[in-house]
Parts: sequence; structure tokens; C-alpha cells
Amino acid sequence: MFVYLNNKLVLASEAKVSVFDHGFLYGDGIYETMRVYDGVVFMLDEHIQRLFRSASFIGLDIPKNISDIKIAIYETLQANKLTNAYVRLTVSRGEGPIGLDPDFCKEPTFVIMTNEFKSYPKSYYEDGIKLIIANVRRNLKEALNPQIKSLNFLNNILAKIEAKQADVYEAIMLNVEGFIAEGTIINIFFVKDGILCTPSLECGILDGITRALVIDLAVRNGIEVREGEFTKDELYNASEVFITNTTMEVMPVCRVDDKGFKVGEVSRLLLKKYRQEVTGYVYEKKGEHPSIWE
Ligand code: PDD
Repeated sequence: MFVYLNNKLVLASEAKVSVFDHGFLYGDGIYETMRVYDGVVFMLDEHIQRLFRSASFIGLDIPKNISDIKIAIYETLQANKLTNAYVRLTVSRGEGPIGLDPDFCKEPTFVIMTNEFKSYPKSYYEDGIKLIIANVRRNLKEALNPQIKSLNFLNNILAKIEAKQADVYEAIMLNVEGFIAEGTIINIFFVKDGILCTPSLECGILDGITRALVIDLAVRNGIEVREGEFTKDELYNASEVFITNTTMEVMPVCRVDDKGFKVGEVSRLLLKKYRQEVTGYVYEKKGEHPSIWE
């Protein structure tokens, strides 16, 4: 397995980063996770755009332009002979002396890791997965902008530990005002009186790329969407619940704390439409750049 490290592909066993890297010392860096279907990175432009946005929020200069990043991702996938995969692209502040000052780090560390995508069990999509509402609250958005997809994941990890202790798949965090925010690596949706509800960005969440597409698909399919502030009781009283992210797509939920849910029509429809969107995207991209996939 090869890893792309700075400017070249190296064997995974030789892909080493310095202990002085501020990504390691302070979580000073950013990342993106992408999913590859049939050799095509889904919504690559959107992910790269978000990567650059995260970088600009923390004053980090990504040492590559958009097209070099795309080439590097496809080179890594090809070196590893992967067509159905996930891609993790990390850019950290780089090596520097101990101390927070980012200016002492001269060169960001740029890493692309890829691996085979192991599908989630079919039963997750057919029967749904279980969630809890975590005790830990989502970081205050005024303290740490959730639009920065950063390497600082301790808030999320604390929620994940709660999920594991409760023997469930994911934990939803409320924001400090007590409104539903998001899960450790997912956005959340629920259906109430036929309306698809999801926390608005003002609740202090990442603007998930899957979330945006699902909202668009819902609207295009005549489903009313409401983005806003919702309490956990509104979630408990929903008729359906599902979560979204790049790797899980649209995943139905069968329980939140002690409240059970059936996998409903809206979740099923949006999962189907999402997958159709992926198929269309892959077909289109292969038509645009046939040489890459020959
Ligand atoms: N996580 N919220 C958080 C906190 C996330 O970390 C993610 C993504 C999402 C969903 O975003 P998207 O639809 O763009 O994947 C929401 C990725 C999958 C990860 O951490 O690997």
C-alpha cells in the first residue's frame, strides 16, 4: 500500500511524520474524507473547495493547487489499484519547534491515504442503526468554527466514547443552547409531519457535502425541508430519522436513546436518489476524462 506524503508516493510502512509536526503536537491541521466509486472520487471539487476553506480559516497555505491535488489523489488510487475506496487527505501545519506559533512551521505536511472501501452491513440500511444523545455538548461555534474540518477531534471523540459505552453506533451532540447539532462524523435529519428537518448551520455544525446534496434531492423530489433549531424531544417524536456523511450516504436510524423508529419512506427514497446521483456523477466524470479510467 502506498501513501502520498508531501510530493511523492511512499510505502505505507515508510510514511512517517515528525514528532515535531504541529498536527501531532497541537491538532493544528485540516482534513477531508472522500469516497471513490468505480474509480471516480465523488464530489471531488466540493471536497477540495472545503479543504481550501478550512485552510484559509486557519491561515494555512496548502502547498499545492487544485489540479495538483486531484492528480495526487488519482495517482495514489492508481498506485494502490483501488476503484472502490475512501480517501483521507490531511494537511498539517508541519514541523516546527514546541510552541503554538504557526509561523515557525515552514512547510505544511501533505498526506493522502487511501484504502479499500468496506461496505457497511446491508442490515444497517435495511433496519437502521442506533444512536444516543451524548452528554457532551458540541463545541461552541463562537469558540471553534465547525466549518473548519480540523484535526482537533477531541469533542467528537468524547461523544464517540459515550456511544461506545452505550453500545450504539453514533452519538448526537446538542449545542450549548440545547438544540440538536450533529454527530461525531455525521449530520442528522428527521421527518416530522412529512417535513424533512435538519439543524441549520447556525446550530454549530459542519456543512456536510452529503447534507447539502440530500437537501437538494429532497427539494427536487417535492419534499419540504426545514433547516432550523430543534430540541431532542422533536427528534424523539419524529416519524423517521437518518444520518448522512460521505461514506455512509443516507443511513436510517432505528433508535435514539429509548425511542424506536421504523425505516420510513423518506429515508428509503433519499437513499435511492442519492445512489442514483452517484451513478450519474460517475458516468459523467468518466465521459469527461476517459483517459484516466482506461
Ligand atoms: N466526517 N459532521 C462532522 C463533524 C463530520 O466530521 C462530517 C464528516 C460530517 C459529514 O460531512 P460530509 O457529508 O461532507 O462527509 C458532519 C467525515 C466523513 C470524517 O470525519 O471522516
